[in-house]
Amino acid sequence: MKRVLLAIVASLLPIVLQAADGTATKVTVDLNAPGKPISPDLFGIFFEDINYAADGGLYAELIQNRSFEYQATEQPTWNSLSFWELTKRGDGEGSVVVEGANPLHKDNPHYVVLSIGKEVGDGVGLVNPGFDGIPVRAGETYNVSFFARQVAGGPMPVTVRLESKDNQVLGEASLEVAGEEWKRVSAAITPTRADGDARFVLLAKAPGRIALDEVSLFPRKTFHDRPNGLRADLAQLIAELHPKFVRFPGGCLAHGDGLNNIYRWKDTIGPIEQRKGQANIWRYHQSVGLGYFEYFQFCEDIGAKPLPVLAAAVSCQNSDRKPGTGQACLPMEEMPAYIQDVLDLIEWANGPATSKWGAKRAEAGHPESFHLEYLGIGNEDKITPGFKERFTMIYDAIKKAHPEITVVGTVGPAPSGEDFDRGWKIAKELSIPIVDEHYYMSPQWFLDNLGRYDSYDRTKSKVYLGEYASRGNTLFNALAEAAYMTTLERNGDIVHLSSYAPLLAKNGHTQWKPDLIYFTNDTVSPSINYHVQKLLWPKCGRSVSLHQSGPVSERPCRLQRARLEKRRRNY
Ligand code: AHR
Repeated sequence: MKRVLLAIVASLLPIVLQAADGTATKVTVDLNAPGKPISPDLFGIFFEDINYAADGGLYAELIQNRSFEYQATEQPTWNSLSFWELTKRGDGEGSVVVEGANPLHKDNPHYVVLSIGKEVGDGVGLVNPGFDGIPVRAGETYNVSFFARQVAGGPMPVTVRLESKDNQVLGEASLEVAGEEWKRVSAAITPTRADGDARFVLLAKAPGRIALDEVSLFPRKTFHDRPNGLRADLAQLIAELHPKFVRFPGGCLAHGDGLNNIYRWKDTIGPIEQRKGQANIWRYHQSVGLGYFEYFQFCEDIGAKPLPVLAAAVSCQNSDRKPGTGQACLPMEEMPAYIQDVLDLIEWANGPATSKWGAKRAEAGHPESFHLEYLGIGNEDKITPGFKERFTMIYDAIKKAHPEITVVGTVGPAPSGEDFDRGWKIAKELSIPIVDEHYYMSPQWFLDNLGRYDSYDRTKSKVYLGEYASRGNTLFNALAEAAYMTTLERNGDIVHLSSYAPLLAKNGHTQWKPDLIYFTNDTVSPSINYHVQKLLWPKCGRSVSLHQSGPVSERPCRLQRARLEKRRRNY
């Protein structure tokens, strides 16, 4: 352990660092010399739907497979009826089949038809166990809704219930399905008893046939009381980090498992029953109920800048189970439409409510701009000629149509090597404002590389350390990351953004470790690494904006300090 001996002489502060073996190093600190400016957006978060982070996690929906769209391509044993079970109560007779002839929407192609025989008994219907059980709190209200239509017979009385595993009723409501066109019906249940492992039960109570789709159970209490919103406790834990930005939706999820699996932002907006869910590269289903609107709204709710990542028109290099060689490139004839999608995102986020895509944002309840400033293109892609060509086309189009947008490029999945070098070469050629570096290394690596950014060329692109972690959730990992974060701050003039990864992991569904926050259906467990992030973030020096050519602004820092003071007072 080093002892520090201090002596203050005018503005020059000599410091002697004395090691246990007696050797000493003298450092002189000039208090009048200006420090390096620090990016006001240095510390943020990266949210990816990995480890059941979205469905079954941050997204508050409690029904699993609500649209009957689970498929064997996601998990070999899955199908449209996965997580649903037919129930016949008393002497009830009936059956359920999956159909697709007259769907609710073309992008939501499957639904079920429930047939109830002459003998109704105590009802015939469906049971859903949620994601590892449904956590129910006594006295809280849960909104139930589904789309339905009569297929045969008259109007159908339906009971919706929350039940314990042994069929004890925790709360229920009644409604009716009437009419031959798809119609949304809804009710609210306020259970009188709590149960951490409840079931949702829908019981039809007359002979006949009804079609059902998009069966939803949502706690009324969500983060910021948003309908179709986020789980309050998890979102709150994230909010308490006070991230300056949120990168989403991935990660490998963004560039996808093959071209057909690229995350398409347009499929994730609009009414939830019209969104196009798809297989998650992490081998489960993404309902995209947590879609681009909800991501942007969450950013706004927590005061963070949105940093969406769109694929660079190439898929993940690990696609089709071909590690390193699975990258597929979008055919050139599809590039104009793809580039238009990218430009449309900017209009959707920032354009006036009178513009084509701005109007869709306004329709969803947000006429004001979302103030998109950063846009990631590509995620740690293999830097191939196919990638370079497509990235350049997208980059040039954004620069031309939207010079106000800061594009974040990508330099491969490692802190050095072929992709890293090629990525940086492209960054230099194109003058990309920021590039995204990723590395998951041992804690010792982080300690051995504390000087990494000290020698970075200040005239080149700035760095977004978009994904990093020191492979563990121990105190040693946390200390190594803390030490490293001080070097990010010290180099806050070149390291513009940084985010630990991954953010969330559901116990029992974790594909990637370490993570920042672990959770179950009703508990949240921030890791020691989370506490390091939380401790270090509020500190800052002078701040500088990327687009600023004039004097360095002090304002964001003052705000940060004020916030820190407030947080200390509230402690
Ligand atoms: O953070 C988990 C994964 O790590 C991301 O999806 C990917 O970008 C990286 O390989």
